Amino acid sequence: MEESRQEKNPCSVIILAAGLGTRMKSERVKVLHPLLGRPMIFFAADLSLKIGAEKTVLVVGHQAEEVQKALAGKPVEFALQKAQMGTGHAVQQAMPHLQESRGAVLVLCGDVPMLRPETLHDLIRHHDETSAAVTLLTTHLPSPAGYGRIVRSHSGNILKIVEEKDATEQQKAIREINTGIYCFDAGFLRTSIASLTNRNVQHEYYLTDLIEIAQYEHKQVSGLTCPDPDEVMGINSRDQMAEAEAILRKRINLRHMRDGVTLLDPSRTYIGMNVAIGPDTTLYPGCYLEGKTRIGSGCVIGPNTRIVNCEIGNQVEIRGFCFLTGSRVWDRAVLGPFSHLRPGTEIHEAAHIGNFVEVKNSVIGAGSKVNHLSYIGDTEMGEGVNIGAGTITCNYDGIHKHKTVIGNQVFVGSDTQFVAPVRIGDRSMIGAGSTITRDVPEDALGLSRVEQKNVEQGAKKLFDRLRNKKK
Ligand code: UD1
Ligand code: CA
Repeated sequence: MEESRQEKNPCSVIILAAGLGTRMKSERVKVLHPLLGRPMIFFAADLSLKIGAEKTVLVVGHQAEEVQKALAGKPVEFALQKAQMGTGHAVQQAMPHLQESRGAVLVLCGDVPMLRPETLHDLIRHHDETSAAVTLLTTHLPSPAGYGRIVRSHSGNILKIVEEKDATEQQKAIREINTGIYCFDAGFLRTSIASLTNRNVQHEYYLTDLIEIAQYEHKQVSGLTCPDPDEVMGINSRDQMAEAEAILRKRINLRHMRDGVTLLDPSRTYIGMNVAIGPDTTLYPGCYLEGKTRIGSGCVIGPNTRIVNCEIGNQVEIRGFCFLTGSRVWDRAVLGPFSHLRPGTEIHEAAHIGNFVEVKNSVIGAGSKVNHLSYIGDTEMGEGVNIGAGTITCNYDGIHKHKTVIGNQVFVGSDTQFVAPVRIGDRSMIGAGSTITRDVPEDALGLSRVEQKNVEQGAKKLFDRLRNKKK
């Protein structure tokens, strides 16, 4: 149904985003402030894509270049509104892009990020069914201050929208408000948008005046009420940003829980929009899963773990306080507590990375263990390797980075340094405390340390001397 309607009758979208957002008290334009780590404007732009709009026109003004740069690569066109003379004036700037468009034109706001595609589909459907010239999305607010109020006739028809600043006391008592989201008939919008005037308290061209124009021309004006006011909440200030962030997170968390993920404390779990998590995975509180991250099923993650742009297999155990970026972890691996994986790292099946271990741009083979206090960088490590505590790959000579290659089933004693470039053969063994500067062949024992010397009675003599000194 939905799709055939779109094919027959494709819609276009105008997104208004020329304002600065004064109440943010920021140098940066409001729509570039991040929500869930992405510029706020992405939400409206993505929404337009999700509903299959054939064209998306973004009206930019303040910091137009920065906004355009942030959206580079997305299929949107830009219309410049040099001076912000009102929402009607903003739509006027977009019209040259929409001369050919048929069907519906949706008007969205760049600062209303929580709107769902389902609601827009409902709006378009209602618009089509009522053959309206314009259909408004409205909602009811307990405290409607600041919004345009919906003025209806006794029989319930929408007569006009009155802005707060132009409203009488009686009109200010109306709780049904204009969300600023509309569906227009393209033909009606094209002909009527040019006739707006700025005869009002703010001397602005109000888009909302099109309602009265439609009524005057005996055209159908429809309204659809959004039952959830959160969804159409506009962001004007930093406290509203935080509120929106919390609502969006809650939505994401709920989706994952419905898909079979356990969140021990959803209020303290932070999952980005582009994160996928398999069923029967448990997240402890304080997890931050960000960027393009995929986590398999049956994993246990956290507490207090941040994972950015990683791919994590199934049944992986991350024992808390870990930071992982740009890495891949295969099934049944165990990490942490306090492990740090940096970009380019691959931890293969059932490998263990333990506490205070940093791994960068390295491959750790299946079943290998780096359990304590180590740095492994630019290293290729085979399977079944055991790395003793305090092992360091010295990969940087101050100018260049060098590689350490460690074969399979190698046993490395504690407190070893590998001065790269160096290759360690299969089944070899490195004595504890060694500084390895040359390659070690297969099955060999690599050892580099000063030979041990025991001085008979040496300790006793030394202690006696120290005691006598004290007296
Ligand atoms: C507008 C509506 C009001 C509605 C409210 C919902 C009008 C006259 N009023 O009021 O009925 O309740 O939105 O939030 O339309 N913008 C431009 N260029 C401009 C002016 C605004 O691009 O010249 C953009 C802003 O960046 C913003 C959006 O349009 O994204 C809404 O503008 P804003 O100034 O917030 O409108 P309101 O006066 O709040
Ligand atoms: Ca506003």
